[in-house]
Amino acid sequence: MVFESIPRTVRIILLGEPGVGKTSLILSLVTEEFAENVPPKAEEITIPADVTPEQVPTNIIDVCLAEQTLEQVAEEVEKAHVICLVFSVDRQETLNKIASYWLPFVRDNCPEDYRKPVILVGNKIDLIDYSIIDNIWDIAEEYPEVDTCIACSAKTLTKVSEMFYNAQKAVLHPIHPIYSIEEQE
Ligand code: GTP
Repeated sequence: MVFESIPRTVRIILLGEPGVGKTSLILSLVTEEFAENVPPKAEEITIPADVTPEQVPTNIIDVCLAEQTLEQVAEEVEKAHVICLVFSVDRQETLNKIASYWLPFVRDNCPEDYRKPVILVGNKIDLIDYSIIDNIWDIAEEYPEVDTCIACSAKTLTKVSEMFYNAQKAVLHPIHPIYSIEEQE
């Protein structure tokens, strides 16, 4: 086991299937409102230290498979400190792909002796009225690098800042293994 030193900036990357709301989550965080029309990929965003709960400058990286090759995405994963794997709670196949594709992809692009923390993000909870937590337990058990699971909505701004805060905390206060499953409201 290799202990990584705590970085002075936090680099957060959002990955997941097309259309799950990665760009919307980033823009909702930054503008504090939901825009129906977002670009395919948000520019890299730097949040200054003094407006983050942990007082650490934070870079947020969007990924869009329509605009990037998998090699480019892999390079971004290598540079990131924490990976947010986003799925859409109303589309089961986007959660299935987290388990079958994205978690293995992240592992393949992280050092074998240091698994970067992963946050599982169920977006669009405004569209459903049932809990998604049961589906996630199995995945979190199989992949101990899963630090936290959070259900949120870029549209209603529910738990959006918490999601990014959880990602920061996973880097700055790494304790493995942690399973903190947040229930949707
Ligand atoms: P790619 O760029 O294709 O990778 O997609 P993306 O993951 O960045 O998704 P994007 O932010 O472009 O959102 C896709 C669609 O979902 C858009 O029509 C958004 O308005 C919608 N959307 C995003 N977040 C939410 C949400 O929380 N609730 C609802 N109802 N719709 C959302």
